Amino acid sequence: MTAAGRATQSETPAPAFTAHVDPGGPSFPASSDEPLLQAAARAGLDLPSSCRNGTCRSCICRLVRGRIRYDIEWPGLLPEEKADGWILPCVAHAESDVVLRWAAADQSLPVV
Ligand code: FES
Repeated sequence: MTAAGRATQSETPAPAFTAHVDPGGPSFPASSDEPLLQAAARAGLDLPSSCRNGTCRSCICRLVRGRIRYDIEWPGLLPEEKADGWILPCVAHAESDVVLRWAAADQSLPVV
């Protein structure tokens, strides 16, 4: 097998899902190999963010539907917030189609 052949086999595309911004917002492709915030930016959406490493909470939004996984073990969320559906999309990757709602559309943003 050639080096080029090995490279091709190791570059299996990540599953591609769809992220939808609720309510009534746009949808964008969300590959499991990039954070949701990055996927949104790639689609031209300018969403709140700052640190992009899961600590500042500027990007916090609610996962209305779907599954995600995190890049880091302890994103800056309390266990109760996680249980209530809050996520940090700068370090969250889609594991299914997802529906997201940002704080402007959801006034119950947790206070820290
Ligand atoms: S941009 Fe800072 S936690 Fe997401």
